[in-house]
Formats: sequence, structure tokens, C-alpha cells
Amino acid sequence: MRKRIVAGNWKMNKTYEEALSLVSEIDNMVKDEVNGEVTVIVAPPFPFLQSVGKLTQGNDLMYLAAQNVSEHESGAYTGEVSASMLKSVGVQYVIIGHSERRMYHHEDAQTLYKKLKAAIAQGMTPIFCCGEPLEERDADRHFDYVGKQLHDSLSYLSNEEFDKVVVAYEPIWAIGTGRTASSQQAQEMHAYIREQLSRMFDAEAAFNCSILYGGSCNPGNARELFSQPDVDGGLIGGASLKSRDFTDIIKSF
Ligand code: PGA
Repeated sequence: MRKRIVAGNWKMNKTYEEALSLVSEIDNMVKDEVNGEVTVIVAPPFPFLQSVGKLTQGNDLMYLAAQNVSEHESGAYTGEVSASMLKSVGVQYVIIGHSERRMYHHEDAQTLYKKLKAAIAQGMTPIFCCGEPLEERDADRHFDYVGKQLHDSLSYLSNEEFDKVVVAYEPIWAIGTGRTASSQQAQEMHAYIREQLSRMFDAEAAFNCSILYGGSCNPGNARELFSQPDVDGGLIGGASLKSRDFTDIIKSF
């Protein structure tokens, strides 16, 4: 069966002390309140990865993610962080292709493909993000738009490489806006994504791929979203910065 996953994307928030207290609170709440059926991931900013990772090490349910990775192995790339560096400080998951990276850092489909390869080569699991802007949904082109994003970055992977990948559907109009996709909108897009994946890879691999929903997910709407057959969890932004809200989302399964 595919994994149920709740991942917290902290984005560019928190100082060192704040990051440590947030993860300690989450760690304690998860230990006390969450049964063993959910994979919980936290994605703090780069400078805090190692320290946050040390605090989650003793918790079997919790894993560490980076928010980005370089497509290059090593060398003269000032300001970049490689997959082997992340691996060496205990990172297990990497968010790749978040709409904020695509938009503000001009990451294109080929670059994202290289990032996927780099993460997978180091044995890490990519969380590959896709999702349409509002004008594409309003023009009823959201399926084609997301289908193309999947095809343009994922279809060059082998079946074996794809086995590692988690997909996150994050409609851009729902990110940080308080406007969530309805559970029906999420389900129909997730089913479409799974169908596209089954055309590119083994049907079984597509069936086993965890597809997360992201975009204004909160304790009030998570249960309804996660009850959909093709919604296998969430990628949480704003609500992952509050330990109580994040834990309540995890408990929504
Ligand atoms: P949000 O962000 O939950 O704050 O809408 C989700 C994301 O961008 O991963």
C-alpha cells in the first residue's frame, strides 16, 4: 500500500532557536498523539537541517526534508547545496519544483529533471510539486497544464527511479491564499495525475505513488481532503509553522 504522508514546508521562516523549539514541540506531540500509520516530514531551511534532524532521529515516524537541491554534483556553484551534502547531514526527502522555485528562481522542467536525478542518485526521495495558476483553471486547462508539468520532468526517469518519487499537487491559487481546492477538485486532479503516471510508468508503480495535496490545508479541511481515495496526505505550508495545527493535520487520517 502507498504511504500516507504529511510534510511541513517551513519555507523561509523561523530563526535557529525558533526552529528547534518548533520541531521539539512537533516531536513530542507526534510521540504522544499519533499512531504509526503516517510518515511525518519536516522541511526546515538549509542552515537548520542538521540540528532539526538530530532532534527527529529518535522518532520513528519523523523524517527530514530539504526545500531544494542543486542539479549539479559539486563545484563552482556559489550559494548552491548539493544532494550529497544533504545526504551527509541526514536528509531523506527533497522538495523539488515548488511553484515558488519555478516562479522566483526560473526553474524549468529540464532543471527539475536534473534535480530529481541528483536526489534519487543519493538515495533520497523527491517530493515533486506540480499545480496550475488561476488563469489556467479559469480557462479549464488545468489538467493539460499539470499533465505537461509531469511529462516534461518525470517521463525521462526509469521505472526504478520513479519508484522513489512522491508527487504533490499544489494549485498555485490555493497556496497561502486561504482558498483551498475542494475535496472534489483535489480528488479529480489526483486521479488524473495517477492516470498520467500509469501511462509513463508501470501501473503498479503509479498505484503505489503517494500523491499529496498542498494549498491552504489546515486542521479544519484536512480530514475531508485526506478522505479522498487518491489523496495520500498533504504538503503543508503556513499551518506547519504551528505545532498544534500541524499535529492536528497529521491526526486527520
Ligand atoms: P500553504 O502552502 O499551506 O501555506 O498554502 C503550501 C505549500 O506551498 O507547500
